Amino acid sequence: MSKSAELAALIRDRAGAEAPEYGLILGSGLGHLAATVDGVAIPYSDLPGFPHAGVSGHVPQLVIGQLEGRRVAVFGGRAHYYESGRADVMRLPLEVLKALGCQRLILTNAAGSLRADLPPGSLMLLSDHIAFAGTNPLIGEASEARFVPMTDSHDVEIRAGLKAAAEAEGVDLPEGVYCWFSGPSFETPAEIRAAKVLGADAVGMSTVPEIILGRFLGLRCAAVSVVTNMGAGLSDESISHEHTKAMAPLGAAKLEKVLRRFLRG
Ligand code: HPA
Repeated sequence: MSKSAELAALIRDRAGAEAPEYGLILGSGLGHLAATVDGVAIPYSDLPGFPHAGVSGHVPQLVIGQLEGRRVAVFGGRAHYYESGRADVMRLPLEVLKALGCQRLILTNAAGSLRADLPPGSLMLLSDHIAFAGTNPLIGEASEARFVPMTDSHDVEIRAGLKAAAEAEGVDLPEGVYCWFSGPSFETPAEIRAAKVLGADAVGMSTVPEIILGRFLGLRCAAVSVVTNMGAGLSDESISHEHTKAMAPLGAAKLEKVLRRFLRG
């Protein structure tokens, strides 16, 4: 049995056999939703091979259960490329999600904004992304499946559902392009200017590897950023992880409303 099948069996034993309809990976300071799921929490330490999510602001556990009447699997802990140098660090969790029978993945992240009309506290729905970190989680994958088309990597139907949910909640949810920088250092002002020229609307250190892996596994994916700061050089505010965690709740409450409405359908 593959490792993902073994872990899926373990998870089914504890949380029940029903397939989750949505997988959710929550970003820095955006994990509150996991605590409101009516279900079973499984610490990553019980799931051999799952990453020790070492960044503060993340709770390393998988929560499976009901949220707004839907079966969900919420990954409270996300590991980032910059923690290990492995861009495929979320591969096993996503393989397990797939092995559980899930077909849809929604990701959230904290991001720096490149647009004056997306100030801190705003939400941005990813219409597309730029993998600027110079690596790819599928490097080393031997099968032909590695040649993943990325044209429709941000699912049109899920995006439409999220936009409708945002509108129903009176929350602005503009679309934009997210540019993946490796981190862990923040960008320089010159890098932010470069990202803008390349067509990005926001920058961040996550999400893109998971979207690539998600598409590799045949999952339909969508992602929402919570803007915690303007990109380096675009405002006088200081940029730090502390600042990110402090600012995330501004947008997190809106994001939670949108996600709940989306799930209620
Ligand atoms: N850059 C990269 N990642 C981020 C930022 C940023 O400005 N803010 C929150 N995550």
